[in-house]
Amino acid sequence: MERETFVGIDVGTTKVVALIGEVARDGGLTIIGKGIVPASGLRKGIVVNIDQTVHSITAAVEKAERHAGYKIERAFVGVGGQHVEGLNSPGQVAVAGPRREVAQEDVNRSIEVARAVSIPSTREVLHVIPRGYTVDGQEGVMNPLGMSAVRLEVETHIVTASATAVQNLTKCVTAADVRIDELVAAGLASAEAVLSPTERDLGVAVADIGAGTIDLTLFAEGSPFHTAVLPVGGANVTNDVAIGLKTSLHVAEALKVEHGTCDLAGVDPDEVISVTVLGDEAGRTVERLDVCRIIEARMRETFEMIRTEILAAAPGMLPAGLVLTGGGAQLAGAAVLGRDVLEMPVRVAAPVDVGGLVDGLLEPGSATAIGLLLWGARHVAAAELTTYESAPGGGLLARIRAAFRSVFP
Ligand SMILES: Nc1ncnc2c1ncn2[C@@H]1O[C@H](COP(=O)(O)OP(=O)(O)OP(=O)(O)O)[C@@H](O)[C@H]1O
Ligand SMILES: [Mg+2]
Repeated sequence: MERETFVGIDVGTTKVVALIGEVARDGGLTIIGKGIVPASGLRKGIVVNIDQTVHSITAAVEKAERHAGYKIERAFVGVGGQHVEGLNSPGQVAVAGPRREVAQEDVNRSIEVARAVSIPSTREVLHVIPRGYTVDGQEGVMNPLGMSAVRLEVETHIVTASATAVQNLTKCVTAADVRIDELVAAGLASAEAVLSPTERDLGVAVADIGAGTIDLTLFAEGSPFHTAVLPVGGANVTNDVAIGLKTSLHVAEALKVEHGTCDLAGVDPDEVISVTVLGDEAGRTVERLDVCRIIEARMRETFEMIRTEILAAAPGMLPAGLVLTGGGAQLAGAAVLGRDVLEMPVRVAAPVDVGGLVDGLLEPGSATAIGLLLWGARHVAAAELTTYESAPGGGLLARIRAAFRSVFP
């Protein structure tokens, strides 16, 4: 079966993941190379030290290349950080052709109009995603091509990011000798890896809980309609444990990962943990319940932040509930506490249906990296069907489209 190769690079606060994947004609994804290295040089998803970040990216890229025997030239790269934001914008045009039938040209112009909302020069547009069309007042049209109409209106979700943050990330990736196929909001990439089409259609929120940030993306009718990044994550939980129990961050992290839960109901009040075996001061023990109370309090507050954001954007619009992913979602009891605070269905999700070198990748923490490959595959396939190319990187879609004509006819 014909396959095409994609590369995804997730530059996270704690780790850089470079994946080389082959996508088959049927959409099946096989990982042929992977490089996962601890990241330095980032704070809450933003580059704060160029040299260190370049070093981390280079290390991840080289590792993936060695694995695969493949030279990485270009990649889909995730963008994180609180500066990533979404807004919804409509665009309306008169259908131009003499036969008053909606043509691709009209669709492109409507998206152009939607994109022309005043976005300050300090922001960079990452995505302009058409959510649906209104054709002569008829709402809810997914594909207006060929319809008879006088007016065409598109509703778009536009994701923007701080221009300087994007420039710094671009600098780092370029310095690691990798060209950028497309910059993808990390939350959209994660959604690609963990949401089912049914959830997207019904209405769902996905929260990628990283170390420094939570990427929150809300979907309805198949498309994203709200994007926000909250400046908290698993590192805040670890910090609280370290401060509360006066341990090192290293020990606090081990306590959290090995013994922590945010579901206090199952914690035996008599259970004690020897901190000594975790490499801290000799002979010390802590009560597990004390550890878990700290964890539960911070996670409760975190879920309350998610609830506030969701309620402000979409009260009652998410019957499929909340899907948790990202390394922070691996915390025991996260779904239980989430359901308690948000009063909606909550599940923890990891990438599925991926083959090849998946050891260590079928975990929530890999959602962004796997999602970047799936994003790449899906959007290149979609580029086959549209000629809309005015978004940044549009030229690149033309390039990829030419290369992929045989794969995605
Ligand atoms: N088994 C586990 N239990 C609890 N927490 C975990 C577990 N595994 C990882 N974590 C937490 O997940 C966080 C890292 O998540 P992830 O790898 O998704 O972050 P990142 O992508 O590097 O960061 P960001 O997305 O914020 O830039 C850390 O805070 C870590 O403590
Ligand atoms: Mg992340």
